[in-house]
Amino acid sequence: MNIVRASNYEDMSKKAAEYVLRKLSEKPDAVLGLATGSTPAGLYEQLIIEHQKRNVSYRQIRTINLDEYIGLPADDENSYHSFMNTQLFRHIDIPLANTHLPNGEAADLPAECSRYEALIDHLGIDLQLLGIGENGHIGFNEPGTSFGQTTHMTTLAESTRQANARFFPSIEAVPQQAITMGIASIMKSREILLMASGRRKAAAIERLMSGETGEDFPASVLHRHPHVTILADEEALSTVT
Ligand code: F6R
Repeated sequence: MNIVRASNYEDMSKKAAEYVLRKLSEKPDAVLGLATGSTPAGLYEQLIIEHQKRNVSYRQIRTINLDEYIGLPADDENSYHSFMNTQLFRHIDIPLANTHLPNGEAADLPAECSRYEALIDHLGIDLQLLGIGENGHIGFNEPGTSFGQTTHMTTLAESTRQANARFFPSIEAVPQQAITMGIASIMKSREILLMASGRRKAAAIERLMSGETGEDFPASVLHRHPHVTILADEEALSTVT
């Protein structure tokens, strides 16, 4: 596990962008596993700047997102489809046909999970981007999720719904369930970049760095992956000795 320190959120976002662009210069048609939330938003902003100011093209990349809420229409402003469109896709030259998210409105949700896992296997993720929940979740794999789990439907932990309520009009509006890549799906990626910023993430980063592995702390599975980088800022690393 490789640790990269950043001074703050902006520095973390710039370093993450450099990392992603390095990958794309080696492999212009790379498959990127994407995350939503506050953590990668600054990285996406940097990727957009590179496109607009330096003509970097994302035409050949393919993307596959970690998760989507169940029951929110794709065009709801809080769906992860909308997040990706507004924070990244609509500002760059990636064809939308090259982008993939789970369909949280599928009539047959278990079939949608199987379709998504087959897509992950078919595309093969070169670089998976991850944030981390305060409880150690990755994707929406909450504590207690089996490390063997592939894409599945999950019920969000109450603490996760509270953390995500900041994007919704009220806590009641936050969906109860989501489709998420499983821990085993994430572990299939060739390379993983986990980002963390702010004091709110310090306890999770401290636990991750302790090296102790267990299903009560999903991110700890990353110790079993051969190619992981943790990119964290000073505040997120503030309690790591
Ligand atoms: C998002 C995701 C989640 C977030 C995590 C941290 O697609 O899968 O695991 O990465 O909840 O969220 P933020 O970045 O908003 O603190």
